[in-house]
Amino acid sequence: VFHSHLDEKVRPYIDLIDSLRQIGIERDVALPAIAVIGDQSSGKSSVLEALSGVALPRGSGILTRCPLVLKLKRLKGRAQWKAIISYKGQLISFDDPSLVESHIREAQNRLAGTDVGICEDPISLEISSHDVCDLTLIDLPGIARVPVKGQPDDIGDQAILPEFPHKSLKYRALINKLGADTLNFQCFQSTPSGAGSQTTSLVPGRIKHLILAFVKKTETIMLVVVPCNVDIATTEALRMAQEVDPEGKRTLAVLTKPDLVDKGTERNVLDIVENKVIPLSKGYLIVKCRGQKDIDDKISLSEATLREREFFRNHEYFSPLLNKDKASIQCLANKLTCCLVTNIKSSLPFVREDVKNLLWDTKEALSQFEKGLPLEPNKMKNYLTNILVDFNSKIDGLCSGEVFNDQN
Ligand code: GDP
Ligand code: NA
Ligand code: MG
Repeated sequence: VFHSHLDEKVRPYIDLIDSLRQIGIERDVALPAIAVIGDQSSGKSSVLEALSGVALPRGSGILTRCPLVLKLKRLKGRAQWKAIISYKGQLISFDDPSLVESHIREAQNRLAGTDVGICEDPISLEISSHDVCDLTLIDLPGIARVPVKGQPDDIGDQAILPEFPHKSLKYRALINKLGADTLNFQCFQSTPSGAGSQTTSLVPGRIKHLILAFVKKTETIMLVVVPCNVDIATTEALRMAQEVDPEGKRTLAVLTKPDLVDKGTERNVLDIVENKVIPLSKGYLIVKCRGQKDIDDKISLSEATLREREFFRNHEYFSPLLNKDKASIQCLANKLTCCLVTNIKSSLPFVREDVKNLLWDTKEALSQFEKGLPLEPNKMKNYLTNILVDFNSKIDGLCSGEVFNDQN
């Protein structure tokens, strides 16, 4: 479905970042990535699903419970669809797209338990297919954004937040571990039978804080998902994106649910897509994904892509957007790939600098041990005695003020 003319130029950059991520460099160095942000049910999962061409766990309820590193690789020639899922020493290859969802669930159950638990260990899912674009997206455990039963509606605005739930520690660890990465705020709802509403949910105020921790990094491209049928000016995700990226340099917005647009507001939506309302330097795109009915009717993702094209082609107001490369999932995929590569190119000098500094520090630390430890027992004794004597005289020096005097 996706015909990318970028192939040869794109893949090496994305592979480089993937391999750096694989060796765990992200703990020390921030890597370029794409963060998907938006309100609950704005269509984030649907967009990710359409981009990847595979059904991911989604719906209402507990979905993503471990970070999912989704590596999409476009195949050429006659090679067949292939996926490799790996996590914590496990590595499973499979060639049936319909198994993706169950493999992810299985992996999540193994890592995070079968309950509502979450886990910071990532699941890596590499999909090679003719139907995907070269992109790497990292999907993170979602968080309930709406106040849950028993909490006041304005809880996000309250100055004093309720007790931070136990899950927060894990989210913090996640932030530290992954840094700025793709973030998909899916709903993370408390089970009705749970021990009270506050045990499995984070209040909106805290969620804002969490999102900011991810998106404030300049290596992160923010993909802000906004449904056509809401007032864009009041969209929290867009407001937050503007807060951390005032010039909109790394913010790309995508409007969803164009089929649900309120009659009479089509021109307003058009103005938004044409960047006339809240201008962003990377602009807007509009996409149509599968609605609930499409899913109930078992409309496949590839069928949905065809229907999307038809929808825009025949649309009274939106059809001109097709030719301007501002409508359809395919345009979004191409645009995202371009953004990611541009971002990687401009980040590489900094990544290199960071790696160089780390290496220098490590070499410096190592050089202290250059002579190594003596191996013969007698020399070992001497060696330790010298260290103790040295240490002792430093203590003495400190006590007598010698060190202080030395410095004068
Ligand atoms: P998320 O919570 O942001 O991940 O949102 P989802 O992707 O789960 O979407 C929420 C609901 O909106 C689902 O029922 C989707 O099927 C539906 N949806 C998403 N995109 C569209 C669209 O373009 N048109 C229509 N009609 N429904 C959509
Ligand atoms: Na949802
Ligand atoms: Mg979702």
